[in-house]
Amino acid sequence: MSVNVKVAAKTKLKEGKPVLKAIRDLDMPINDSCDGKGKCGKCLITVKAGKVNEPTKEEIKCLGQEKLDKGLRLACMVVPEDEDVTVELVIK
Ligand code: FES
Repeated sequence: MSVNVKVAAKTKLKEGKPVLKAIRDLDMPINDSCDGKGKCGKCLITVKAGKVNEPTKEEIKCLGQEKLDKGLRLACMVVPEDEDVTVELVIK
């Protein structure tokens, strides 16, 4: 049997910076093997609250419309457009 555990962390991010920077600043585990270039498709997140940028052309190419429609985004390409944004890491 397994249980669900939610771990939350909060930090500040300079305007215009991608969510990946906040995740790195918090030392949270994320696979960023292409170093934030939007090519490896490993830094998956879902945006739970707040406004962020529309999917970039790198995300559309890397993830495809089906995954974007399911709410998946790339942390290295997502830039908050609100003061408060909540994301969840997708850990596989
Ligand atoms: S770090 Fe590779 S796609 Fe985001």
